[in-house]
Amino acid sequence: MSSMGWSFQAYLMNLILVSVIIIPLVLGCYNSIIGFGDSITDTGNLYNSDPNRSLNFFHPPYGETYFHHPTGRCSDGRLVIDFIAEFLGLPLVPPYLESQSSNQSVQNFEAGVNFAVAGATALDAAFLEEMGDSVSCTNDSLSIQLEWFKQMLPSLCNTSSDCNKVLSTSLILMGEIGGNDYNDALLAGKSIEKVQAYVPLVIETIASTINELIELGAATLLVPGNFPIGCLPAYLTTYESSDKNQYDPSTGCLNWLNKFSGYHNDQLQLALSRIRRLHPQVTIIYADYYNAMLQLYQSPDQFGFIGETSKACCGGGGPYNYNTSALCGDAGASACENPAQFISWDGLHSTEATYRWITKAILQGNYTVPRVSTLCDSPV
Ligand SMILES: *[C@@H]1O[C@H](CO)[C@@H](O)[C@H](O)[C@H]1NC(C)=O
Ligand SMILES: *[C@@H]1O[C@H](CO)[C@@H](O)[C@H](O)[C@H]1NC(C)=O
Ligand SMILES: *[C@@H]1O[C@H](CO)[C@@H](O)[C@H](O)[C@H]1NC(C)=O
Ligand SMILES: *[C@@H]1O[C@H](CO)[C@@H](O)[C@H](O)[C@H]1NC(C)=O
Ligand SMILES: *[C@@H]1O[C@H](CO)[C@@H](O)[C@H](O)[C@H]1NC(C)=O
Ligand SMILES: *[C@@H]1O[C@H](CO)[C@@H](O)[C@H](O)[C@H]1NC(C)=O
Repeated sequence: MSSMGWSFQAYLMNLILVSVIIIPLVLGCYNSIIGFGDSITDTGNLYNSDPNRSLNFFHPPYGETYFHHPTGRCSDGRLVIDFIAEFLGLPLVPPYLESQSSNQSVQNFEAGVNFAVAGATALDAAFLEEMGDSVSCTNDSLSIQLEWFKQMLPSLCNTSSDCNKVLSTSLILMGEIGGNDYNDALLAGKSIEKVQAYVPLVIETIASTINELIELGAATLLVPGNFPIGCLPAYLTTYESSDKNQYDPSTGCLNWLNKFSGYHNDQLQLALSRIRRLHPQVTIIYADYYNAMLQLYQSPDQFGFIGETSKACCGGGGPYNYNTSALCGDAGASACENPAQFISWDGLHSTEATYRWITKAILQGNYTVPRVSTLCDSPV
């Protein structure tokens, strides 16, 4: 066989390999993922806005499981947005502020861009401060993230028909957002009655942001609700009670806090229904993070969570391994041997294993409204 023949064969073989391996990836349903939210979704924005890396979640052991170094993700590894990107065959979604903090002005956001910032609230920081709350770590609330998006858009498209095309092939992940509006107040000891009054304002902010994105051409939005916060070690520590009736005996979670998350989620779903009626051509999917996570607390063994479910993997001691004087990443805190055996990573955020199960529940289970087969049914 001539060398020509051989190399032609090799070329054919390459072609076959390339089509088998690459084509299913590029033929995903969406060309891009655009993220908004807080530490549940931040892939490095707060990290890039804090060059001194002063916060605990910028230190090891954050990132130890997957990236093997801190990336600004509040977990030991990947987040839901990372697993969604992998599922769709897209690159991990780059943080918007990465391009601002370096001279990479030509940062390519064609396959996705993430505006989520750890600590971000739905309501503006100035408003929350007026209400007597101090926002933690950042003032980059949802309205600021939306402004960044509008500033960035001309790098993707300049005419409204082009922008419609770009946005209609993007999956927009709106949240989770709003959790910190409640966390900042509740963990500082504000009464649940006072915090409950924020719910309609938070929902209205999320709804109006979604409406603006739809005006700009958004066609598919995945909108997660809040987690069952009564299960989180930070809350179990802050609101520890000798009254057994406050706890759900099957999960160990605090009922009144889970009920509060349920209230937010019900209001969010009502708002999404209203938006669907106004924009029947837009696909708006509610992602039920609450029940996707609660199933892990209900049957932990089934998911490999053989550690104590009410304890954080990484922390500085105490009955729930959550200690505000020694947070995960601080001196005085340490991580468990095997994070995949724990639901909670640091008391507020989950382990990569948890985020993987939640993503599976969303993309392949029945934890979305409507059911998520529609995620890839859109005419893209
Ligand atoms: C980083 O730390 C240096 C020295 O402590 C300080 O002067 C500077 O203001 C800090 N920068 C930021 C962005 O916090
Ligand atoms: C960015 O570019 C400016 C001007 O060219 C230069 O002074 C600066 O050091 C650069 N910064 C980084 C982070 O590369
Ligand atoms: C947020 O803004 C307030 C002023 O409104 C400022 O005092 C505070 O330092 C800011 N916080 C952060 C984390 O940027
Ligand atoms: C849109 O116009 C701006 C300014 O002329 C230009 O820098 C940018 O590259 C254009 N964007 C696209 C996607 O063509
Ligand atoms: C919390 O952390 C502080 C500082 O490291 C430590 O002195 C204290 O004993 C810890 N509390 C518990 C309950 O382990
Ligand atoms: C979702 O699936 C779980 C387990 O497969 C099942 O127990 C539950 O009833 C289902 N829920 C709905 C709404 O179909």
